[in-house]
Amino acid sequence: MTTLVQVAAGAVRAGRPFDGYAGLPAEALEAGIRAAREALGRRAVVLGHHYQRDEVFRHADFTGDSLKLAREGIAVEGVEHIVFCGVHFMAETADILSPPEVSVVLPDLAAGCSMADMADLGQVSACWEELADTVGTDGLVPITYINSSADLKAFVGRNGGVVCTSSNAARVLAWAFTRGQKALFFPDQHLGRNTALDMGLAPDAIVVWDPALELGGNTPEALAAARVILWAGHCSVHMMFLPEHVDAFRARYPDGKVVVHPECTREVVEKADACGSTEHILKTIRSSPKGTRWAVGTEFHLVDRLNREDPDHEAHFLSPTYCHCSTMNRIDPPHLLWALENLVEGHVVNRITVEGDDRHWARVALERMLGLG
Ligand code: 13P
Ligand code: SF4
Repeated sequence: MTTLVQVAAGAVRAGRPFDGYAGLPAEALEAGIRAAREALGRRAVVLGHHYQRDEVFRHADFTGDSLKLAREGIAVEGVEHIVFCGVHFMAETADILSPPEVSVVLPDLAAGCSMADMADLGQVSACWEELADTVGTDGLVPITYINSSADLKAFVGRNGGVVCTSSNAARVLAWAFTRGQKALFFPDQHLGRNTALDMGLAPDAIVVWDPALELGGNTPEALAAARVILWAGHCSVHMMFLPEHVDAFRARYPDGKVVVHPECTREVVEKADACGSTEHILKTIRSSPKGTRWAVGTEFHLVDRLNREDPDHEAHFLSPTYCHCSTMNRIDPPHLLWALENLVEGHVVNRITVEGDDRHWARVALERMLGLG
């Protein structure tokens, strides 16, 4: 197959570099992606997270939240390559859950997650040791949000813990309390707090662990009394939504409804009518009575697409300022085309792999979660 960059550059190179793709016009990128998809056929599956831009999202075989994508991508029989249009931790999860011969490709390696970067293995291990010396770790269950690196998933796997997503955090936390008296939850404090409070835990049973401070900034007494210890991480995209945005929307549209992602602060979640994962947000809106007007507190691309594609509902972006996930949006048509054309030619670029012990223990932690239903 002659590819667009070969045409554009007039040259054929093996294991082609990215140079040249960025300058291609939109129509050429679109046609190139379609042609490469056709050439790959059922050998490759493209997964698209709800936050992706349209020009990428429309090429996905499966779309969904991070958990749904990981499940559906690995369920396709006979697939050789999974091209993950999402962020790094999602591609790692797909690799851990899929057979070793399947390659998982992240079209741009810069597509990370700033929240996942707020907790690393060294910091979490140091926290665990401090907690061992202060309150002991026998009854302490570590829970990592799926938005975390594979070595942290392996850490929780080794230490009797589990992974959770924004769709199953309550079930996972309830499971943790059947195994111990306390949970260490990282890296997103807001998902952890929202889940714990919704389960009926008292606010003073929840403390925050700041990795920059001794004992995370807590007294030994506070740690002894705590049921949930939250890592001081957050998502900058969801921190943009404020309680006053909900007030302003309600003042303007008294009949309107508000739905937000659990990475939003407690103050925002408390004012909302509904809260859940990206998939849950879409289902909530689509199943609401025709004509319902919604304000939505999650990444812009999801809200914008919903608004355009669902004529029965009106979706407003909750914040007056536009905010998108800049790392997720590193995946653009040039990178997608580059990754696909390399696959067509037998070159797997930007392969994401998790190996050895980490793969084993991260899988244990993921399977514990999947086993909870
Ligand atoms: P979901 O699992 O709800 O898709 O969330 C992923 C994410 O990164 C939200 O910021
Ligand atoms: Fe990470 Fe936030 Fe982007 Fe989700 S929206 S991928 S949590 S930075």
